[in-house]
Amino acid sequence: MEKLLTHLRAKRRRIPLEGLAPQRSLPRLKSWPGLEDLTIGTATPVSLRGMKALEVGCGAGLPVLNLFLQEKMDAVGVDLSSVQLGLAEENTKPSPPASSCDLNRLRQCSDGYSPRGKLELVESDMMELRYPPESFDAIVGLYSLVHLPREEQTVFLHRAARWLKREGLLMVNFAREEVEGEVRTGWLGQEEGWVYFSGWGEKTVKVLEEAGLEVLEREVADGVDGVSGLTYVWVIARKKGG
Ligand SMILES: C[S@@+](CC[C@H](N)C(=O)[O-])C[C@H]1O[C@@H](n2cnc3c(N)ncnc32)[C@H](O)[C@@H]1O
Repeated sequence: MEKLLTHLRAKRRRIPLEGLAPQRSLPRLKSWPGLEDLTIGTATPVSLRGMKALEVGCGAGLPVLNLFLQEKMDAVGVDLSSVQLGLAEENTKPSPPASSCDLNRLRQCSDGYSPRGKLELVESDMMELRYPPESFDAIVGLYSLVHLPREEQTVFLHRAARWLKREGLLMVNFAREEVEGEVRTGWLGQEEGWVYFSGWGEKTVKVLEEAGLEVLEREVADGVDGVSGLTYVWVIARKKGG
């Protein structure tokens, strides 16, 4: 679990967010604070192989789903949008071996060794999800819970806590300020459509604790997010053991 924690730990390094927003390329729309150690090759002795992760509002699958798969974790990506899930499928395909240096990898594959974890993509409202208790080692929701009414965020976080294994990790971000619920039009310069935001602000931390999670890390992202106009708080929490 320590390695998983290392992987989820929010740090200052910035990973470009690509793929947000269906049907448009918004490369480098903004940067993410955190996720420093989600990069591949941070050699720690413990393997994450076989661990199971859920990402809700996975969007285009980058970087989180892809990095879980590269770490040989099995991942479930859930999103309302079929367009985003299509992008996620594309973005998480294993790249073909680039050169002869990958021959070893090929050999391992033909021996039944999978170089990546298994991916399941689910088109669903995250509020419709049902899993047995203790199904996942990690649950992630980035820039997605904010789109639920905040009462539903509470319900979802309690469910997520139940779905986590003991000592499993949850990483989410949420708006720092309380937002009772607002609809915005003209989002991302589009004339049509709307987007909804809400949140409990810092009270979300209390919600997490009431759900049986221990907040390990809490980090306020620098500045206002250019897309939503909100400042986000990133949290990593662990389900209490025994
Ligand atoms: C701002 S994007 C963030 C995507 C991704 N997590 C990222 O950081 O790039 C929000 C995503 O959440 C999805 N979403 C919004 N409400 C949802 C819900 N109730 N259930 C599942 N997905 C939802 C949207 O379709 C969208 O792909």
